[in-house]
Amino acid sequence: MNSNVDRLESSVKSIKDKLKKLKNEINEHNYLYHTLDTPQISDYQYDQLFQELLDLENSHPELITKDSPSQRTGSAPLDKFEKVEHKIPMLSLQNSYSPEDIFAFDERVKKVLGSDKNIDYMCEPKLDGLAIELIYEKGHFTRALTRGDGLVGEDVTLNVKTIKSIPLVLPMKNPPAVFEVRGEIVIHKKDFLNLNEEQKNQELEPFANPRNAAAGTLRQLDSKVAASRPLRVYAYAPGFTEGLSLESHVKFFEFLKSNTVPNLLDFKVRKNNLLKICKGPEDVVEHYHFIEKVRDSLDFEIDGMVIKVNDYQLQSELGFIARSPRWASAAKFKPEQVTTTVESIVIQVGRTGALTPVAIMKPVKVGGVTITHATLHNQSEIERKDVRVGDSVIVQRAGDVIPEVVEVVIKKRPKNTKAFQFPTHCPTCKEKAVKEDGEAVLRCVNILCPDIVQESLKHFVSKKAMNIDKLGEKIVQSLWDAKLVRKFSDIYKLKKTDLIDLERLGEKSAQNIITSINQSKEPTLAKFIFSLGIRFVGEQTAKALAKYYGNIDDFLKAQSDDLLKINDVGPKVVESITKVLQDPDFITEVKQIIKNGVTLKEVEMTSHTKMLDGLKIVVTGSFEKIDRNQIKEIIESHGGSSPSSVSKKTDYVLAGEAAGSKLEKAESLGVKVINWDEFQGLIQ
Ligand code: IVH
Repeated sequence: MNSNVDRLESSVKSIKDKLKKLKNEINEHNYLYHTLDTPQISDYQYDQLFQELLDLENSHPELITKDSPSQRTGSAPLDKFEKVEHKIPMLSLQNSYSPEDIFAFDERVKKVLGSDKNIDYMCEPKLDGLAIELIYEKGHFTRALTRGDGLVGEDVTLNVKTIKSIPLVLPMKNPPAVFEVRGEIVIHKKDFLNLNEEQKNQELEPFANPRNAAAGTLRQLDSKVAASRPLRVYAYAPGFTEGLSLESHVKFFEFLKSNTVPNLLDFKVRKNNLLKICKGPEDVVEHYHFIEKVRDSLDFEIDGMVIKVNDYQLQSELGFIARSPRWASAAKFKPEQVTTTVESIVIQVGRTGALTPVAIMKPVKVGGVTITHATLHNQSEIERKDVRVGDSVIVQRAGDVIPEVVEVVIKKRPKNTKAFQFPTHCPTCKEKAVKEDGEAVLRCVNILCPDIVQESLKHFVSKKAMNIDKLGEKIVQSLWDAKLVRKFSDIYKLKKTDLIDLERLGEKSAQNIITSINQSKEPTLAKFIFSLGIRFVGEQTAKALAKYYGNIDDFLKAQSDDLLKINDVGPKVVESITKVLQDPDFITEVKQIIKNGVTLKEVEMTSHTKMLDGLKIVVTGSFEKIDRNQIKEIIESHGGSSPSSVSKKTDYVLAGEAAGSKLEKAESLGVKVINWDEFQGLIQ
């Protein structure tokens, strides 16, 4: 009897140990991937580890802990967020805009401290996102609160838990009883563009800028939404702590770094020396100019620099006034807005038929880039802002990327301007435009409208779709004008002579286009489905469809009850897919594309081999036939991984034309360098 109990106990112990090991391993890979950007295993290998964890937890649900990586996603939607008081109020910073203000701040600090010695200031980027407080109790992540009104915040734990770079457990032996850490939730500029692209594909309103997108995401009661959005967090200050004493801000960052909490130091780790201890105000001003100079080249949005007294003892001597600390100040940058005039307003017809008003403006420079066009979104936006031809307008690059009209300078409005009359018909095919139920957008619904077809062709050849990179917009336009390409399948009938004759392109460019078309002939099923431009079928939905159906024939026979079983496919998407699949012209066209030479890889997972199992191959330089992202996909599909930087652990560096510092590093570390042909040899 006793020995049975013993055996049972020891088997539970061994499962617990296995779970612990798996969780630690997954946490370590999350940190390498999401915080340091240096993955050491392929996505495939990561998925396998994760699956192993899920399987083990499934058979032993009693052993699932709240901090298991499996518990980051998939919680049931909340009715509302709970309000929770902050242990220490989350204050705001006093803003200043000029070097003189920086000197004045330094003077004030010295006066209160009664010292005339130079003070050490930590200068940091001021991230443009939203404030968050992460709470760790005995080393376990227990709660995340928004700033709220500074005294009481909202409990957004389930949403924040989906951010994979946040450790759910601090990897330390004797964690403090309580460790609260504050930081900013942001979305990187590149992720923001992808997110808006995905919004567009699903015909949802784009977000105005990364901050709005991050704020909108955090406010969602369904944490699955947050799980699908590219949120990141960077910690910048301690909150309440118990059982931990930190002497200075520098020490605070060191503590975070050694406990894998993503923080402002990560920027330094990556490439920028954004964080600096400055000795006195002159140094601070110099760093302010430096950050302002590199602002546009950063991966994320910032709106200024924060200056903090480094020594925490001095910080507490300085204390607070009203709602701001005396030991810190925000030196903001001037907003990147300028004034220009609207020369005309045109209506663009998009791939889904949406009529979008666009202001064409007198060219003007914003943040180092000349802009001439700004979107006015839709009919209600243009009416709300009342933008007219001839108006002076303030424009900004929202998200530092998409130019947008902020407002009209009414005082400067010339006499006799007229409110813009939104057309009732498509400006291109002249068919009557319609507004669908509950939509703000007026649409052309003529599927043969030349603009819609041309935009669909551009989508078809785009990078995330068939990726025919040499068929740029201008060439698609000329092929259209020459009536050579009127539907997707025509692309795969093109001959070199067609291009030379009609484009007056050189022999070499024509050949490049043909090569690029040929290289696109083996897409994954997901990319192919995405390329077809079915309404509401974005990249993610296409992936889910490909995974579910596995091959194109089954997809073409999809029925609504089956489609509804797929995660993330809602009724709107089902309706759109079944509608298009009932259209005989659509089915004929898909079959024609395949007849013209496109062969589909069956579902991605099945094509994996183990040829590169566990190998770390860094790809650098450019390659004649293929781009680096495609090579990375090949490496991963064979079980390898492709970290972005070279280290001693790198197995190979695959070097193309004009390979630079990574090649040098490989040589200095004695890492084997291979060329394209040698790489091919590895996977044959
Ligand atoms: S320190 C006592 N550091 O700026 C205030 N704040 O008004 C402690 N912010 O909404 C804040 N980057 O979320 C600090 N490096 C940084 C920051 C930063 C952005 C935000 C913060 C708050 C606002 C301050």
